[in-house]
Amino acid sequence: MSLQVIILAAGKGTRMRSAMPKVLHTLAGRPLILHVLQRARTLEPAGISVVYGHGGDAVPNAVSDDGIRWVLQQQQNGTGHAVQLALDEGGTDDTVLVMYGDIPLVDVDDLRKLVHLGRDALAILTIHLDQPGSYGRIVRNEDGTINAIVEAGDALPDQLEITEINTGFMAAPRALLVEWLKRVSNDNRQGEFYLTDVVAKAVEDRIAVHGVGTEDPLAVQGINSRIELAAMERQHQRRLAETLMGSGVSLADPARIDVRGTLEAGEDVFIDINLVVEGAVSIGARTRIGPNCVLRDAVIGEDVEIHANSVIDGARIAADCSVGPFARVRPGTELDSGARIGNFVETKNTRIGAGSKINHLSYVGDAIVGRDTNIGAGVITCNYDGANKHQTIIGDGAFIGSDCQLVAPVNVGDHATVGAGTTLTRDAPAWQLTVTRIRQQSFAGWRRPAKKSG
Ligand code: UD1
Ligand code: CA
Repeated sequence: MSLQVIILAAGKGTRMRSAMPKVLHTLAGRPLILHVLQRARTLEPAGISVVYGHGGDAVPNAVSDDGIRWVLQQQQNGTGHAVQLALDEGGTDDTVLVMYGDIPLVDVDDLRKLVHLGRDALAILTIHLDQPGSYGRIVRNEDGTINAIVEAGDALPDQLEITEINTGFMAAPRALLVEWLKRVSNDNRQGEFYLTDVVAKAVEDRIAVHGVGTEDPLAVQGINSRIELAAMERQHQRRLAETLMGSGVSLADPARIDVRGTLEAGEDVFIDINLVVEGAVSIGARTRIGPNCVLRDAVIGEDVEIHANSVIDGARIAADCSVGPFARVRPGTELDSGARIGNFVETKNTRIGAGSKINHLSYVGDAIVGRDTNIGAGVITCNYDGANKHQTIIGDGAFIGSDCQLVAPVNVGDHATVGAGTTLTRDAPAWQLTVTRIRQQSFAGWRRPAKKSG
């Protein structure tokens, strides 16, 4: 028994008022279609087909996933037509699951139930909504069995009262679906081939129609407008925040954290307001994140202090470190335990040894810094000569005075001292003081020019 997933994503999404296809708009930092694909993948299907159309190749181009069969639907003649196209080009998979590209948060367990029941019958995912609005209504017989789905636009007034609606997700044996779709017509209000009409065909053929009921409206909600998308984003983020708090993380305000990726955090982590997380981030136990920070693809150890307004990207920060406020930690930065990076410090592709400090106003890039080294205020590694990048290597226990330029490639030995204001163009030997500085002079009797009077 194998599974083919068909994802419908050809629609225009008129109400987004966007040049970009609807399914490429993002929720939690990822295009809607990727949320759907990720869920489809967890079912380990033999194949995934995505029906695209509006926006041309924009959707296939945006999704770099080799395993997808892209099915072009030139004209959006309805959901039934879209599924038919995908089936035409499909393999001989036994069970077909239909998903929508604009319903990003569907519950995978519900999908599993559909797939299970869809092996030898038609299974549809339904939910009761207080305001069923424009959704297709589930029409049941007196004995409770499902008789049909009626689209809101085609429904009779008493059918519109029905609160059980079609979420759009359904599963059925491939061969039956092919047969039923052949018999579906476009004789309806929208002049479209409705996928939902297969329910009536199954009933005609005396094939069981199973309704799988679900309870979480957010999981089956489709996105039609930017307002709906923003509302879903807030609800989704709220849930992520609650999961974090449930695992022992304190949030200064659960409404002011956005996770656009994955965040793993240990117990007793404290996160102040306005944190944005991108990519994969992990934070060790008891670490504190100050207000207004951005963390992207970062591994942060235990008992770390990230102070306000710091941006950390592509970095590994070991236990007991301190970063910021106003630090910019760029990709390839590694801080060993207890290292400190202070305000207005930028690091890139740099390893900083245990206990070393760069406390103020520095740029350190393409460097290796030993342990217990102190880098003074305003130190710059001149790593770029306009064509190539060069490395600066600083040993253990070194002291670089304020306002030095280290013109790479250059080495500073262990326990070397580099005097303030030095422009280092050759290596600074271990244990010695190196200084390049014009000798200080004072001029006795010198007078400052004065304004001419009169
Ligand atoms: C559809 C269902 C309705 C259900 C609702 C749930 C039909 C006829 N109706 O209505 O019962 O309550 O979803 O959200 O199926 N699409 C294509 N090609 C097309 C038409 C649509 O790929 O020709 C795609 C759209 O991009 C979208 C999905 O199919 O992802 C649903 O289409 P949409 O027009 O939003 O369906 P609804 O009218 O909302
Ligand atoms: Ca429609």
